[in-house]
Amino acid sequence: MNPYQIESLEQYFQVYNESVQNPEQFWGQLARDNFQWHKTWDRVLDWDFHKPEVKWFDGAQLNITENCIDRHLKNRAHKTAILFEPNNPKEPAQHITYKQLSEKVNRMANVLKEQNVQKGDRVCIYMPMIPELAVAVLACARIGAVHSVVFGGFSATALATRINDCDCKIVLTADGGFRGSKTISLKAIVDEALHDCPGVRKVLVCKRTQEQVVMQAGRDAWLEPLLEAANSDCPATIMEAEDPLFILYTSGSTGQPKGMVHSTAGYMVYTAYTFKNIFQYKEEDVYWCTADIGWITGHSYIVYGPLANGATTVMFEGVPSYPDFGRFWEIVEKHKVNQFYTAPTAIRALAKEKLEYVTKYDLSSLKVLGTVGEPINEEAWHWYDTHVGKHKSPIVDTWWQTETGGIMISPIPYCTPTTPTFATLPFIGIQPALRDAEGQEVFGKNVQGRLCIKFPWPSIARTIWGNHERYRETYFSTFPGNYFTGDGALRDSVGYYRITGRVDDVIIVSGHNLGTAPIEDAINEHPKVAESAIVGFPHDIKGNALYGFIILKEQASAEEQKALKAEINQQIALQIGPIAKLDKMQFVIGLPKTRSGKIMRRILRKITVGATDELGDTSTLLNPEVVDSIIEGAV
Ligand code: WT7
Repeated sequence: MNPYQIESLEQYFQVYNESVQNPEQFWGQLARDNFQWHKTWDRVLDWDFHKPEVKWFDGAQLNITENCIDRHLKNRAHKTAILFEPNNPKEPAQHITYKQLSEKVNRMANVLKEQNVQKGDRVCIYMPMIPELAVAVLACARIGAVHSVVFGGFSATALATRINDCDCKIVLTADGGFRGSKTISLKAIVDEALHDCPGVRKVLVCKRTQEQVVMQAGRDAWLEPLLEAANSDCPATIMEAEDPLFILYTSGSTGQPKGMVHSTAGYMVYTAYTFKNIFQYKEEDVYWCTADIGWITGHSYIVYGPLANGATTVMFEGVPSYPDFGRFWEIVEKHKVNQFYTAPTAIRALAKEKLEYVTKYDLSSLKVLGTVGEPINEEAWHWYDTHVGKHKSPIVDTWWQTETGGIMISPIPYCTPTTPTFATLPFIGIQPALRDAEGQEVFGKNVQGRLCIKFPWPSIARTIWGNHERYRETYFSTFPGNYFTGDGALRDSVGYYRITGRVDDVIIVSGHNLGTAPIEDAINEHPKVAESAIVGFPHDIKGNALYGFIILKEQASAEEQKALKAEINQQIALQIGPIAKLDKMQFVIGLPKTRSGKIMRRILRKITVGATDELGDTSTLLNPEVVDSIIEGAV
C-alpha cells in the first residue's frame, strides 16, 4: 500500500489513523519516499502551540524547485508543465514544457542574482497572470529569495504597505495586465506606490500589454533583454527545511495586513500530498485552478502542489465572463481539462447566465470539480454537480486558509461520499476540534463550535513577518494550546464538517478575505467622516457584500450624501482595491456600542437583513437610543 496515493475510503481511514497515532513516523516516511533531499532531517517535528513554535523536518536540506522542476527532467522533460491560456481567446495558448520551464526559471534566477538579490532577501512580485509570474515565483525559490506576491487587483497604497512591511528592495512587475475587456496599468501603480517605498532600488518590468510606461533611469529595467542575456543554468541554492519560502499577506483585525510566512520543506510536502489526493491527479491529466497566483490558492495549487507532482497546470490570464460567460467551459473543452478548481462566487455568477453557455461545450473530460474560498450554498453546489459535472464528477469542497498553506478538510474524490455544503472529513494528519465559547472541546456528533486544530501539520504558517507576538495573539491565544481558525463549524451525525462562516471581524466577499478594520480605516480617512462600521450582508453572487454605517462630522444634504458615497468608495478603492468597495452605505447618528466602547456588529448585521425582532436586549448598550434611528434609515 502506498500512502502517497489514497484509493479508497477504507485506506483513507487507515492512513488517517496512522498519521495521527504516529505523526513523526508517518510524515517522515512520506517525505523520504516522495521528495528529493540534499540531507534528511534530524527530527521530523518539534512543536509547542503555546510559544508558539513549529518546525518540520528540521535539519533537512533541499531546494523546492529541484522537486518541482529538475527531478522531472528525466522522464517528463517534454511534458507540459504550464499551459498558459491568454485573456484573448484568439491568442494562441502556450505549452511550456518542464525543460522550457527549467530554462526560464534559471534565467530569471540569474537575472535576480545579477541584481544582487541574495538568499533571504524579499522580492515583491506584482504581475498579471502570465507565465512570467510563475517563473518569477520559482526563480526566487531557486536562489532562496523570499517571494511576496501581491495580487494585481490591489491598489498602490496596499502595494506600498506590503512592500514596506517586509522591506522588499526589488519589485517585479509588467507594463500592464489584461483582464477581460479591461487593462490594468500595473507599472503605473507601482510607480505611485514607490513614492512611499524608499527601500526599493530596482524595478524589473515584463512586457505584456505594450502600453506606454515611464521608465525611471537607474531604477527601472525591462526584463526581456536581461532574460535573454542571462545564462539558462543556475544551480539551486541549498535551503534549510525551515528557511522561509514566501510571505503572503492576508487581512486581519487591524489596518496592517498580516504577512504570513511559509517555510520550505513542510509546505512542499503538504501541498504536494494534498494536491495528489484531493484532485486524484493521474500522469496524463490536465489540471486547472482558476485562482490568481496572488492568493494562496494559486501558490499552493497552481504552482507548487501541481509542479511537485510533475503535473500539467493551466494558468488562465482572464476572467470567467470574457468574451462571454462560456469562457471557462470553452477552455475545459479546448484543453480537455480533467480537474477543475474554482470558487463558489464564480459558480454563482455563471449559474445566473443562460444554460447554453455550459451546454454547448463538451465537458466530458472532467473527473473532479473543486471549490474553495467560502461556504458553497446548496443551490450552487447542485448547479455545479448537474450542469458541469453531469452527476459524474465528485465535488471536493475544500476548506483551508492562507495560514494553513494547504487544504485541511475535504473529501477525497472517488473515496469520500460527498454531501452538498459539507467539506466532509479532515485530510490525512489534520486533527480538528470544535470548541464552545468557554473554550471547552465539544465532542461527539451533531455539534457545533469554533473550529480549531489541535496538532501541527507540515504547511502551517510559521509566523507573521516581523510580528511573532501578533501571530501568537491571533491564532493561539483564544484557545490556548490550539490553532484557532476564526471559523465556525458543525459536525454532523457521520462526523462530516460543515464550515458555517467566520466568527470574527473578517468578511468573505467573492471569496476574498476582507478585514473590517482596514476598510473602516480607509473610510475614516475621508475628512468628512467621524466614524464607521462595516458588516457583511448576504449577496446572491458575492456570498457576502459590504454594508457601511457611517457617522459624518457634520450633517449633509441628500445631494452631498450622494457625492460622499462615491468619494468614500473611491477612497476604499485607492487604499485597498475595488474588491473592498461597499454595496450599501447608510449615514447614521451613532453606532451601537457596549459599555466598554466596542461596536456591536451583531446588531448591525441583524439590521442589514431586516431581522429587527432578533436584536435581543439592547438596553445594556451604552447608547440604546441610536438603534431605532439606524433601523429607520436602513437601506
Ligand atoms: C477563509 C480563508 C484557502 C484559499 C482561499 C481563501 C473561508 C475557505 C472554504 C470552504 C467554507 C471556506 C473560511 C476561511 N473558506 N474555504 N471550502 N468552505 N469556507 O483563503 O483568504 O485565507 O480565507 O475562507 O472562512 O477561514 P483566505
